[in-house]
Amino acid sequence: MSIRVTWLGHAALALEIDGTHVLVDPYLSGNPLAAADPATIPTDYILVTHGHGDHVGDTVSIAKRTDARVIANNEVAHWIARQGVRNTHGMNPDGAVNFGFARIALTMAVHSSSLPDGSYGGQANGILLTARDGTKLYLAGDTGVFADMQRIGAKGIDLAVLPIGGNYTMGPDEALEAVRLIAPRAVLPIHYNTFPLIQVDAAGWAQRVHNETASRVIIVDPGGSFTL
Ligand code: NI
Ligand code: MN
Repeated sequence: MSIRVTWLGHAALALEIDGTHVLVDPYLSGNPLAAADPATIPTDYILVTHGHGDHVGDTVSIAKRTDARVIANNEVAHWIARQGVRNTHGMNPDGAVNFGFARIALTMAVHSSSLPDGSYGGQANGILLTARDGTKLYLAGDTGVFADMQRIGAKGIDLAVLPIGGNYTMGPDEALEAVRLIAPRAVLPIHYNTFPLIQVDAAGWAQRVHNETASRVIIVDPGGSFTL
């Protein structure tokens, strides 16, 4: 089996896991870095970390077009259902569920969450995805750094997807601290360079991580892919 990871810009990812198409936080319309068309992208599942517009993004229109199953916390899942999406699944942290293509658990995140119309979005989350062969992805979502990342890292993370842009999430210094706590085999930095407030020298950050940790940083341009 293999997992193909494509960064679609900002916090949006496309994962292809044994032929199953999984979108994460598909903010494409209005995303200056968007590297996919929400009207055509193939989608079986959509994972949403929290209610902010730059994460919910095109979830409703893509789910209506494809009948993809939307997985999020209870509040976000109920809100998505109220927008007319038929196939939703609400969860809360550590209640892992096997969806066939992978086992999914929400994790904590240190962040706020409200939906685009101001509705309560519950707590913001990260996502722990365990593929059938045991490959583990930790998608931190929007978050500050927190000590329990060490506990998540103790599970043995193959790829950590971390925000590095600052202002709305942890910035480069805290993201480096997060890499130390998680100690993943590889790290993909996201949530940077979308807007002026979150401009980051990703290559410089990667150099620091390589100098100070044993983790490998994968930098891709929006639309770029790699395989785990
Ligand atoms: Ni957010
Ligand atoms: Mn965000």
